[in-house]
Amino acid sequence: MPVRFSLFFFAKDTGQYLKGVLRGFPQSTLVFVRQLPEPLTEGNFPTPPDPPADVWLLEYRQDLPALDRIIEEILQQPEHPAIFLYLAQADTQTLLKALRLGVQECFIGQIQTEEFSQAIQRLQRWRQRLKDGDTTKIAALLGCKGGVGVSFLAVNMAQSLAASISDPVLLMDLDLNNSDIDSLLDIKPRYTILDVIDKFDTIDPQYLKDVVHSRESGLDVLPGPPRLEDRELVRAPIVQDILHYIKAQYMYQWLILDLGDTLDEVTIKSLEVADLLVLILELTIPALRDAKKLLEILPILEIAPEKIRLVANCFNPAFCVSVQDGEKYLRRELSGTLRCDRQEAVQSLNEGVPLVELYPSHRLSQEINQITQKLFCQDRQNGNQTGRWARLKNLLQWRRAS
Ligand SMILES: Nc1ncnc2c1ncn2[C@@H]1O[C@H](COP(=O)(O)OP(=O)(O)OP(=O)(O)O)[C@@H](O)[C@H]1O
Ligand SMILES: [Mg+2]
Repeated sequence: MPVRFSLFFFAKDTGQYLKGVLRGFPQSTLVFVRQLPEPLTEGNFPTPPDPPADVWLLEYRQDLPALDRIIEEILQQPEHPAIFLYLAQADTQTLLKALRLGVQECFIGQIQTEEFSQAIQRLQRWRQRLKDGDTTKIAALLGCKGGVGVSFLAVNMAQSLAASISDPVLLMDLDLNNSDIDSLLDIKPRYTILDVIDKFDTIDPQYLKDVVHSRESGLDVLPGPPRLEDRELVRAPIVQDILHYIKAQYMYQWLILDLGDTLDEVTIKSLEVADLLVLILELTIPALRDAKKLLEILPILEIAPEKIRLVANCFNPAFCVSVQDGEKYLRRELSGTLRCDRQEAVQSLNEGVPLVELYPSHRLSQEINQITQKLFCQDRQNGNQTGRWARLKNLLQWRRAS
């Protein structure tokens, strides 16, 4: 499918150069070309004809606040064109400033054929995703009672997922009564969800990326409030806004939430936004009773039964209720069971490394990998889609290398 470009530039030479670049690509059609007036204001920016082009290729100058405002305004429109910025030269600060505006691509200096052609391919995937209405999927892990392994599984499933797909995964600790994801991953958090709440009015993808803790494995982590008394600051409406924001940005293919085991306002609002609710239980009589109560309450809270999956943790056929009896009692199928291996689980806790990373070939790790694939990937063929942050990272890596 051809890609329609509008071209905007300040310097005539730059205009000629960019026209040449576009002509070199048979997939691109140039539908509108304008030299930008100097000084540029929001009032004298040329209006391209309808229907809008697929991409605006725009010469960017970082000292023009009017240009930033114009870009922001364009990107806020529902069916906006993608924006590719061209900078004759740029330092990392300028590049970051440009990317923070939410543009799709930045090109600096001489544009390489390969680089531009990859950008066009990414653009076509991006347009396809917009057409499909794709967004970050949210999976919420909720325990039927305390201590059933929600945090352990949130960390391990998130890590397992991040290792198996090319996009990064975000793990967020929303267990306000017992935020311990940071200690499970041996993170000394500089930032937590409180920082996101604090700056939510002016949040942009780069700020979010700055505050999350990035593990090398592709797992990003946003820890919960550091002190119990801070949980008052984490209110349901702002949590819901944050989740909607992350969903819409599509920086991550998946966002995994540790919701603990309490149904409060924050968990309920989170469950409303979540695409998948993974209810963690044990095949013991008390845990099954609690799970049943929860399964009765969830429809009353208008949580669609289709998005609920059940996982039985710490399963030992020698003394647990059988899977068959458990399913009969709950009147629902289990997505799977996970064995109990205290020694390795405790070692992974003490090391602050997820079990699936510390002992990848251990049987429990393999079971976690399998169930993660089943829960998160089975219905999704698009495991190699690239989110915005993956592209930003590629770009920064490319900048560093050049
Ligand atoms: N499959 C397993 N095999 C062995 N140990 C496990 C398993 N799953 C979890 N554990 C261990 O059980 C303990 C409780 O797990 P975890 O803290 O994840 O539970 P939780 O549901 O998050 O509890 P809380 O209600 O305190 O938040 C931890 O020590 C963890 O390592
Ligand atoms: Mg926990």
